[in-house]
Amino acid sequence: MLRRSFVVAIDGPAGSGKGTIGKALAKHFGWKFLDTGLLYRAVAQKIISFQGSWCEDEAIRVAMNLSESELDHPDLRTPEVSKLASKVAAIQEVREALLDWQRDFVFDCDGAVLDGRDIASVVVPDAEVKLFLTASPEKRAERRHRELVAQGKTVELNHVLDELILRDQRDITRLSSPLVKTKDAIKIDTTTKSIQESLAVAINMVEKRLKGS
Ligand code: CDP
Repeated sequence: MLRRSFVVAIDGPAGSGKGTIGKALAKHFGWKFLDTGLLYRAVAQKIISFQGSWCEDEAIRVAMNLSESELDHPDLRTPEVSKLASKVAAIQEVREALLDWQRDFVFDCDGAVLDGRDIASVVVPDAEVKLFLTASPEKRAERRHRELVAQGKTVELNHVLDELILRDQRDITRLSSPLVKTKDAIKIDTTTKSIQESLAVAINMVEKRLKGS
């Protein structure tokens, strides 16, 4: 029988630092990392590539037939994809189609770090460490804006903030696996913390759990 690895679940809203901290945490311990948002982004990107109106059945079909290579698509981080990703992510059957993939990821390795919205609540509810990253909407929008500008995109900071707040709302209020902080998750507010400071807190939590305290 396959053995489930030590799992760190990282949830939180857009721009809270989940991806940056998650990736660095996995690197620090020599573990695997999965950015589960990429699955929803890949579904959204594929639908956009069809260039027409879309329906739920189509999104479900795309999710059921998603292949790993589609997670490497260069356009997964555009604002258009972000927006549609949070719409397709609200469809229960899309989420179900992507669940086995995420659960299979945590088997047969020493450790795995997964980041998303429902990792601690749905994907791996018995994860060894659960972190919930947050930051003020303004700070999160600032980070996302900086990333977009670095990619050569011209976009207003206010527009990024508005889109981010709308996406938060959709992710928090949807019926299927909404973004939620589970009671046993440790909250890390990254608003005034550097990446190194947030990472140090996360490493400390994992080390404590590894030592069994
Ligand atoms: O990087 P960012 O935090 O902006 O977004 P992401 O993690 O790539 O996720 C994009 C969208 O996918 C989110 O707005 C959610 O609607 C959805 N998502 C989800 O529903 N569940 C997950 N585990 C991960 C992402």
